Amino acid sequence: MDALDAIFSRRSTGRLTEPAPGGDDLQQILEAAAAAPDHGELRPFRFVLLTGVAKDAFGQVLAGAYLARCEAVGASPTPGQLTKERTRLGRAPLVLVVGAVHSDDEVIPWVEQQAAAQAAAENALIAATALGYGSMWRTGDPAYDQQVKGALGFGPHDAVVGFLYLGTVNEGGAKPPRRPDLDGLVTWWEPPA
Ligand SMILES: Cc1cc2nc3c(=O)[nH]c(=O)nc-3n(C[C@H](O)[C@H](O)[C@H](O)COP(=O)(O)O)c2cc1C
Repeated sequence: MDALDAIFSRRSTGRLTEPAPGGDDLQQILEAAAAAPDHGELRPFRFVLLTGVAKDAFGQVLAGAYLARCEAVGASPTPGQLTKERTRLGRAPLVLVVGAVHSDDEVIPWVEQQAAAQAAAENALIAATALGYGSMWRTGDPAYDQQVKGALGFGPHDAVVGFLYLGTVNEGGAKPPRRPDLDGLVTWWEPPA
């Protein structure tokens, strides 16, 4: 699949099944991610992979973080949300967490370090699509939770830019490629008359 086909074919799939990318395919997805534009070559992106029992165990981290968030604002946790947190990562056989590690670089602002990690995430999705896998980029409260970030090995000043769910689209579940409507999105700038 060429690059444009992969870009237009990438569609988010909420629930993915085995097989997840592994071996050479996973290697290529990670290398594609790390090939993202990176101002100053700071290599701010980091990749954390969760599969199998690690995903189950991380569900406990997500549930614990949810309980702590509720406690912090004096809210009552709901059993439904608690179950949702515990089972979040069950939506795909492999979860690739993409983060940005903060640098106090004097030239490259933090927003651009995060942009490089976001570009890495998109590259990973496009590579996964080109290799025939389904994917979905998610964030939600866990991405911004210090407890969750810490459990993944990120510091308080780092950022999780996405939980990328990776796996295989169920037979018949593939969404068609699309060409987005550009109406209202593009202008050709001209100097003031
Ligand atoms: C930074 C970022 C975070 C996102 N987080 C979520 C999320 O937590 N839950 C969700 O349903 N969609 C989330 N999305 C949107 C989906 O990834 C997806 O783009 C959207 O559902 C449109 O589907 P498509 O990718 O097939 O166009 C996020 C997208 C981005 C770029």
